[in-house]
Amino acid sequence: MQNEIDHRKRSTVRPRTRILVDGGDPEETRAIKDLLGFVDGQTTNPSLIAKNPEILELVHAGHKLTEQQEADEYRKIVRAISPLVGEAGVSIEVFGDLKTTAERMYQQGRDMFSWIPNAYVKYPCTSEGLKAAERSVREGIRVNLTLCFSQEQAAAVYGATRGTTAPAYVSPFIGRLDDIGQNGVDLVSNIKRMYARGDGHVLVLAASIRSLAHLLCCFAIDADLVTVPAKILREWADAGLPLPDATFSYDPKGTRIDYREIDLEQPWQRFNIEHELTTKGVEKFAADYRATLYPKAS
Ligand code: E4P
Repeated sequence: MQNEIDHRKRSTVRPRTRILVDGGDPEETRAIKDLLGFVDGQTTNPSLIAKNPEILELVHAGHKLTEQQEADEYRKIVRAISPLVGEAGVSIEVFGDLKTTAERMYQQGRDMFSWIPNAYVKYPCTSEGLKAAERSVREGIRVNLTLCFSQEQAAAVYGATRGTTAPAYVSPFIGRLDDIGQNGVDLVSNIKRMYARGDGHVLVLAASIRSLAHLLCCFAIDADLVTVPAKILREWADAGLPLPDATFSYDPKGTRIDYREIDLEQPWQRFNIEHELTTKGVEKFAADYRATLYPKAS
């Protein structure tokens, strides 16, 4: 009887924003699915994969991996997660640094897309990442453009993914903008507002969620999707799975990010897609990835 009551309660609280688990451990995803009754999707990244319990154990025991072994481990992890999640799919991020070419990213992306039936390939919001995404969508590969910190980057994502068969995702990072004193949720709202004038082929996936307030605010501003660490989803469940009502208010964490009028129809190469946090983010993902590998013989 208790289970029936719990099930009824869970099924009534599903928000319109789709919820993804932000992690790299299938057991964690399974536990969150048991807790919430559903998980719409999953995002992973090189830092989260480096923290996967099996990879951590290997590395701590002194067994560093070759690039091929790391890719094999990553594939094993996403194959275990794939059947646990709904139609928002599993985002798999290409490995690369600031020198990685679009061609190299695309080759990885094409391989990763074949790992599971519900894959989204994550490319960074850099010029090379956008070129790789542009080529990918032409070939029917679903994409998620990550490390987005500006409205212009999101406009470039719109241009580069035009014509995609499945919706593309863009991932604005709320917490990392908060960290530099800017109100990260404003970027999510601004991108939603800009895309409202478009054709709907890009969905906004709010990322870098650090608190329950972030999560509730994403529901309130109607983010299409939100990717959330298990710890915050547990807090949400402990609080009784609340949804924001008319009285909900959010305490901004930094200075306001103003909306800009941007013509989405321009060629994406015309947008200024530089952002220091994108550069730092690529470097950090590359460093976390390399920390799991045998040093390359030079
Ligand atoms: C998910 O796609 C992102 O990689 C993740 O949300 C980043 O979160 P962080 O800024 O807390 O590392």
